[in-house]
Amino acid sequence: MTVLLKADHVTKKFGGLTAVNRVDFEIEVGMIAGLIGPNGAGKTTFFNNITGLYTPTDGTIYFDGEPITGLKPHVIQKRGISRTFQNIRLFGQLSALENVLVGEHVRLHGSILEAFFRPKRVMTEEADAKEKALKILDFVGLGRKIAEQAARNLPYGSQRRLEIARALASDPSCSCSTSRRPG
Ligand SMILES: Nc1ncnc2c1ncn2[C@@H]1O[C@H](COP(=O)(O)OP(=O)(O)O)[C@@H](O)[C@H]1O
Ligand SMILES: [Mg+2]
Repeated sequence: MTVLLKADHVTKKFGGLTAVNRVDFEIEVGMIAGLIGPNGAGKTTFFNNITGLYTPTDGTIYFDGEPITGLKPHVIQKRGISRTFQNIRLFGQLSALENVLVGEHVRLHGSILEAFFRPKRVMTEEADAKEKALKILDFVGLGRKIAEQAARNLPYGSQRRLEIARALASDPSCSCSTSRRPG
Protein backbone atom coordinates (compact mmCIF):
# COMPACT_ATOMS: atom_id res chain seq x y z
CA MET A 1 0.00 0.00 0.00
CA THR A 2 1.52 3.35 -1.00
CA VAL A 3 0.77 6.47 0.97
CA LEU A 4 0.13 9.47 -1.30
CA LEU A 5 -0.82 12.12 1.24
CA LYS A 6 0.22 12.11 4.88
CA ALA A 7 -0.48 14.58 7.68
CA ASP A 8 1.71 14.37 10.75
CA HIS A 9 0.55 16.33 13.80
CA VAL A 10 -0.79 19.19 11.69
CA THR A 11 -1.84 22.15 13.82
CA LYS A 12 -3.09 25.57 12.78
CA LYS A 13 -3.65 28.38 15.24
CA PHE A 14 -5.17 31.77 14.55
CA GLY A 15 -3.95 33.80 17.51
CA GLY A 16 -5.41 32.06 20.55
CA LEU A 17 -7.82 29.92 18.51
CA THR A 18 -6.65 26.42 17.58
CA ALA A 19 -8.56 25.66 14.38
CA VAL A 20 -6.74 22.38 13.58
CA ASN A 21 -5.27 20.38 16.43
CA ARG A 22 -2.56 17.75 15.82
CA VAL A 23 -4.22 15.96 12.91
CA ASP A 24 -2.63 12.70 11.73
CA PHE A 25 -3.78 10.66 8.76
CA GLU A 26 -2.66 8.83 5.66
CA ILE A 27 -4.38 8.65 2.29
CA GLU A 28 -3.31 5.78 0.07
CA VAL A 29 -3.05 5.80 -3.70
CA GLY A 30 -6.45 5.20 -5.28
CA MET A 31 -8.35 5.88 -2.06
CA ILE A 32 -11.44 8.11 -2.00
CA ALA A 33 -11.69 9.78 1.39
CA GLY A 34 -14.04 12.28 2.99
CA LEU A 35 -13.48 14.66 5.87
CA ILE A 36 -16.64 15.36 7.84
CA GLY A 37 -17.38 17.49 10.86
CA PRO A 38 -19.66 20.27 12.08
CA ASN A 39 -19.37 23.88 10.99
CA GLY A 40 -16.22 25.42 12.38
CA ALA A 41 -14.53 22.06 13.01
CA GLY A 42 -11.53 23.10 10.93
CA LYS A 43 -12.09 21.25 7.65
CA THR A 44 -11.50 24.20 5.34
CA THR A 45 -8.52 25.35 7.39
CA PHE A 46 -7.04 21.87 7.08
CA PHE A 47 -7.47 21.85 3.28
CA ASN A 48 -5.94 25.32 3.14
CA ASN A 49 -2.90 23.95 4.98
CA ILE A 50 -2.56 21.06 2.53
CA THR A 51 -2.85 23.29 -0.54
CA GLY A 52 -0.51 26.01 0.68
CA LEU A 53 -2.97 28.82 1.34
CA TYR A 54 -1.95 28.57 5.00
CA THR A 55 1.26 27.37 6.58
CA PRO A 56 0.65 25.04 9.53
CA THR A 57 1.70 26.36 12.92
CA ASP A 58 3.10 22.92 13.65
CA GLY A 59 3.36 19.52 11.99
CA THR A 60 4.33 18.26 8.55
CA ILE A 61 2.42 17.38 5.38
CA TYR A 62 3.97 14.88 2.94
CA PHE A 63 2.88 14.33 -0.62
CA ASP A 64 4.31 11.48 -2.65
CA GLY A 65 6.89 10.94 0.09
CA GLU A 66 8.18 14.51 0.21
CA PRO A 67 7.36 17.30 2.66
CA ILE A 68 5.21 20.04 1.11
CA THR A 69 4.59 21.99 4.32
CA GLY A 70 4.69 25.73 3.71
CA LEU A 71 5.28 25.53 -0.05
CA LYS A 72 3.44 28.08 -2.19
CA PRO A 73 0.04 27.01 -3.65
CA HIS A 74 1.27 27.01 -7.27
CA VAL A 75 4.25 24.81 -6.32
CA ILE A 76 1.96 22.36 -4.53
CA GLN A 77 -0.32 22.31 -7.56
CA LYS A 78 2.65 21.47 -9.81
CA ARG A 79 3.49 18.60 -7.47
CA GLY A 80 0.06 17.20 -8.33
CA ILE A 81 -2.59 18.40 -5.85
CA SER A 82 -5.68 20.08 -7.31
CA ARG A 83 -8.58 21.54 -5.45
CA THR A 84 -11.95 23.23 -5.77
CA PHE A 85 -13.35 25.81 -3.38
CA GLN A 86 -16.36 25.95 -1.11
CA ASN A 87 -17.43 29.16 -2.85
CA ILE A 88 -17.36 28.79 -6.60
CA ARG A 89 -14.35 30.54 -8.09
CA LEU A 90 -14.77 30.23 -11.82
CA PHE A 91 -13.90 32.92 -14.35
CA GLY A 92 -17.55 33.87 -14.90
CA GLN A 93 -17.11 35.80 -18.14
CA LEU A 94 -14.98 33.07 -19.76
CA SER A 95 -16.57 30.11 -21.50
CA ALA A 96 -16.76 26.69 -19.85
CA LEU A 97 -14.07 25.46 -22.25
CA GLU A 98 -11.78 28.39 -21.43
CA ASN A 99 -12.15 27.70 -17.71
CA VAL A 100 -10.94 24.14 -18.27
CA LEU A 101 -8.08 25.37 -20.48
CA VAL A 102 -6.95 27.61 -17.61
CA GLY A 103 -6.62 24.44 -15.54
CA GLU A 104 -4.50 22.81 -18.23
CA HIS A 105 -2.26 25.85 -18.52
CA VAL A 106 -0.06 24.66 -15.66
CA ARG A 107 1.06 21.74 -17.88
CA LEU A 108 1.45 23.60 -21.20
CA HIS A 109 4.82 24.72 -22.53
CA GLY A 110 4.40 27.63 -24.96
CA SER A 111 6.25 30.83 -24.01
CA ILE A 112 4.84 34.37 -24.27
CA LEU A 113 6.80 34.92 -27.47
CA GLU A 114 5.40 31.72 -28.97
CA ALA A 115 1.90 32.88 -28.10
CA PHE A 116 2.45 35.71 -30.62
CA PHE A 117 4.24 33.80 -33.36
CA ARG A 118 2.38 30.52 -32.83
CA PRO A 119 4.80 28.02 -34.34
CA LYS A 120 3.35 24.66 -35.39
CA ARG A 121 4.33 22.98 -32.14
CA VAL A 122 2.29 25.53 -30.17
CA MET A 123 -0.69 25.23 -32.54
CA THR A 124 -0.63 21.45 -32.07
CA GLU A 125 -0.35 21.81 -28.32
CA GLU A 126 -3.34 24.19 -28.34
CA ALA A 127 -5.43 21.80 -30.42
CA ASP A 128 -4.54 18.90 -28.12
CA ALA A 129 -5.34 21.00 -25.06
CA LYS A 130 -8.76 21.87 -26.49
CA GLU A 131 -9.56 18.24 -27.30
CA LYS A 132 -8.48 17.19 -23.81
CA ALA A 133 -10.65 19.93 -22.27
CA LEU A 134 -13.68 18.73 -24.25
CA LYS A 135 -13.07 15.17 -23.06
CA ILE A 136 -12.95 16.37 -19.45
CA LEU A 137 -16.25 18.24 -19.95
CA ASP A 138 -17.71 14.92 -21.11
CA PHE A 139 -16.15 13.10 -18.16
CA VAL A 140 -17.74 15.36 -15.53
CA GLY A 141 -21.11 14.98 -17.23
CA LEU A 142 -21.41 18.49 -18.69
CA GLY A 143 -20.92 17.45 -22.31
CA ARG A 144 -19.47 19.51 -25.14
CA LYS A 145 -22.65 21.43 -25.94
CA ILE A 146 -22.09 23.86 -23.09
CA ALA A 147 -18.41 24.41 -24.00
CA GLU A 148 -18.96 27.88 -25.45
CA GLN A 149 -21.36 29.12 -22.77
CA ALA A 150 -20.14 31.68 -20.26
CA ALA A 151 -19.47 29.97 -16.93
CA ARG A 152 -21.66 32.44 -15.05
CA ASN A 153 -24.71 31.46 -17.13
CA LEU A 154 -24.50 27.80 -16.13
CA PRO A 155 -26.75 26.47 -13.36
CA TYR A 156 -25.12 26.13 -9.93
CA GLY A 157 -24.70 22.34 -10.14
CA SER A 158 -23.01 22.65 -13.54
CA GLN A 159 -20.67 25.32 -12.18
CA ARG A 160 -19.57 22.88 -9.47
CA ARG A 161 -18.93 20.24 -12.13
CA LEU A 162 -16.98 22.81 -14.13
CA GLU A 163 -14.78 23.54 -11.12
CA ILE A 164 -14.02 19.83 -10.85
CA ALA A 165 -13.27 19.76 -14.60
CA ARG A 166 -10.83 22.64 -14.21
CA ALA A 167 -9.15 20.92 -11.26
CA LEU A 168 -8.81 17.65 -13.23
CA ALA A 169 -7.38 19.54 -16.21
CA SER A 170 -4.17 20.21 -14.29
CA ASP A 171 -3.51 16.45 -14.19
CA PRO A 172 -3.46 15.91 -10.44
CA SER A 173 -1.56 12.84 -9.27
CA CYS A 174 -3.44 9.65 -8.65
CA SER A 175 -0.48 7.33 -8.44
CA CYS A 176 3.05 7.78 -7.12
CA SER A 177 4.68 5.72 -9.85
CA THR A 178 3.05 7.50 -12.80
CA SER A 179 2.68 10.99 -11.43
CA ARG A 180 6.13 12.38 -10.95
CA ARG A 181 6.78 15.31 -13.18
CA PRO A 182 9.54 17.88 -13.39
CA GLY A 183 9.01 21.22 -11.61
N1 LIG B 1 -8.45 33.15 8.57
C1 LIG B 1 -8.95 32.89 9.78
N2 LIG B 1 -8.67 33.69 10.84
C2 LIG B 1 -9.15 33.43 12.07
N3 LIG B 1 -9.94 32.38 12.37
C3 LIG B 1 -10.25 31.54 11.37
C4 LIG B 1 -9.78 31.76 10.02
N4 LIG B 1 -10.26 30.75 9.23
C5 LIG B 1 -11.00 29.96 10.03
N5 LIG B 1 -10.99 30.44 11.32
C6 LIG B 1 -11.64 29.81 12.46
O1 LIG B 1 -11.15 28.47 12.53
C7 LIG B 1 -12.19 27.58 12.91
C8 LIG B 1 -12.34 26.50 11.84
O2 LIG B 1 -12.96 27.07 10.70
P1 LIG B 1 -13.10 26.30 9.32
O3 LIG B 1 -11.81 25.67 8.97
O4 LIG B 1 -13.66 27.27 8.33
O5 LIG B 1 -14.17 25.18 9.68
P2 LIG B 1 -15.05 24.24 8.73
O6 LIG B 1 -14.56 24.36 7.33
O7 LIG B 1 -14.90 22.85 9.30
O8 LIG B 1 -16.46 24.73 8.86
C9 LIG B 1 -13.45 28.43 13.13
O9 LIG B 1 -13.54 28.73 14.50
C10 LIG B 1 -13.15 29.67 12.30
O10 LIG B 1 -13.82 30.79 12.82
MG1 LIG C 1 -15.53 24.84 5.53
